[in-house]
Amino acid sequence: MDFQELVKYRRSSRYLYTQKPIPDAHLRKIFEAARYAPTPHNSQPFEIIVVKDKDVIKQLSEVGFRLDKKAVDGHFYWTRFSDEELENKRTGVQVDVLPKFILDLKENPSLVDDDVFWDRAMKLYSYFVQNCSCLLFVLYDKSLRGVGPLHHVWGILSIGAVMQNIWLAANDLGISAELISGQLMVPESVQQILQILDIPKDKYRLMLIFRLGYEKKFGTWGTNIRRELKDFVHLDRFSNPF
Ligand SMILES: Cc1cc2nc3c(=O)[nH]c(=O)nc-3n(C[C@H](O)[C@H](O)[C@H](O)COP(=O)(O)O)c2cc1C
Repeated sequence: MDFQELVKYRRSSRYLYTQKPIPDAHLRKIFEAARYAPTPHNSQPFEIIVVKDKDVIKQLSEVGFRLDKKAVDGHFYWTRFSDEELENKRTGVQVDVLPKFILDLKENPSLVDDDVFWDRAMKLYSYFVQNCSCLLFVLYDKSLRGVGPLHHVWGILSIGAVMQNIWLAANDLGISAELISGQLMVPESVQQILQILDIPKDKYRLMLIFRLGYEKKFGTWGTNIRRELKDFVHLDRFSNPF
């Protein structure tokens, strides 16, 4: 695919995937793309774990992500409840592409403290995670940090470059991808994942979890609205739009 086309085609695919395996040749292409991501001093401070084993995927899918009120409110801040709202603000996520529990929480905020509600949300989440071809875990190697006072910031920027390369390469191969970050916000959940995957916790920080696979309804992508260039590109001075 042409580069400009691919950049705009890349999408978060939050739908149900099949369990069809991704051929190793395609996984290799995805990892080759990650391999060539720019990093400070070419330090390459990342490791990737690809999980294909169904039993391990099941175990990982059961790691909880219960959100508290503050986190839920944070989600709502970026959730757009109509196409018009999204069109106007040009940032944020259309509510229809998010799990239904977000809408339930909006309609009934007291559910945030309801164990049964979170059990149900977790079951649905696990089902989605289990229906994938594989999971990818991207780790930041803290020992390979960058130079000077911004050391970890450089490293974490590199992980962003790795993320984008993985995502573009996957979508280019017709493989859908979704980042799943809920667990990353819960320290106990991160610990559980490190344990399941046998990751040395002092050296590595878990940065990204990708669900990869083939969508049941390929092409049912979410919305693709962005700010206009004039809203964020400046010429010569901040006050001057490009
Ligand atoms: C660091 C990061 C974390 C994200 N976490 C999630 C997530 O947990 N669940 C999810 O569905 N999307 C997640 N996303 C996807 C964004 O919501 C998505 O990229 C954005 O809404 C634009 O949509 P698009 O990817 O379809 O272009 C994440 C993206 C980034 C960069």
